[in-house]
Amino acid sequence: MFGLGSFARVANELRRDIAAARARDPAAQGVSPVEILATWPGIHALLSHRVAHALHEAGMPLVPRSMSVFTRAVTGIEIHPAAMIGRGLFIDHGSGVVIGETARIGDDVTLYQGVTLGGTGFQTGKRHPTVEDNVTIGSGAKLLGPITIGHGAKIGANSVVITDVPPNATVVGNPGHPVRVDGRRPEGPDADWIHLPDPIAEAIQGLATRIGDLERAVSKLSGEQERAPAEVRPLRPVRGQNPAGG
Ligand SMILES: CC(C)(COP(=O)(O)OP(=O)(O)OC[C@H]1O[C@@H](n2cnc3c(N)ncnc32)[C@H](O)[C@@H]1OP(=O)(O)O)[C@@H](O)C(=O)NCCC(=O)NCCS
Repeated sequence: MFGLGSFARVANELRRDIAAARARDPAAQGVSPVEILATWPGIHALLSHRVAHALHEAGMPLVPRSMSVFTRAVTGIEIHPAAMIGRGLFIDHGSGVVIGETARIGDDVTLYQGVTLGGTGFQTGKRHPTVEDNVTIGSGAKLLGPITIGHGAKIGANSVVITDVPPNATVVGNPGHPVRVDGRRPEGPDADWIHLPDPIAEAIQGLATRIGDLERAVSKLSGEQERAPAEVRPLRPVRGQNPAGG
């Protein structure tokens, strides 16, 4: 049952969660632990989850799920009582966060509002992500399926991630793809998703080159002055952000 040991464990976890909020939330600088405990929705959701999880592990029916439903109504954060969450999780703002039944979260992870650690369909068994230590997941990111997010990885806001993420990688976009691994741009033939070839421009460029050659040949034969070769621009927007960037 929920004895003294469980109580001490939950109290320890709560202390570490509050320390995480103070360390990682710029808005928490200079705010006392008591005020954070009283007013941070992410802390309320975690406290409730840690108790609900202990009760769930002790085999208690109904109460853990009821706590989860009540906490969702109050904070907008839904955490299944069976989800395994390490120490020092920080959920900033919180609203719209969903953490599924078989999700596992390591130590010192940061989640922003609107993050989903969800399944992809109706399969059973392990179907939610495993998030290793020191991962940051940006607001609105959806991580779907039994994938593993390697330690120290960063997931960009609004990304949709359906494959494993290597440790210390930065993943952005939909589908999520690495734009940094260990601080460097990934290399290899399929690594550059942003600067894709433009086959139509390349075909027109080939024709323009042939026409230029012909014009030069005709100019030489006729004694006319050579014209400047035609310019062919790639068919990409030249202003604003590149939409392929995420
Ligand atoms: C991904 C993130 C963590 C930055 O990580 P980083 O390792 O410092 O990466 P950088 O800022 O160097 O960006 C790397 C590349 O990804 C792009 N990028 C960054 N975040 C992106 C996003 N959310 N979507 C699409 N592209 C993104 C950058 O433009 C950059 O592109 P480039 O390689 O063409 O220059 C950050 O951009 C992010 O999304 N943080 C979430 C913050 C959040 O949710 N805040 C909510 C507060 S309420």
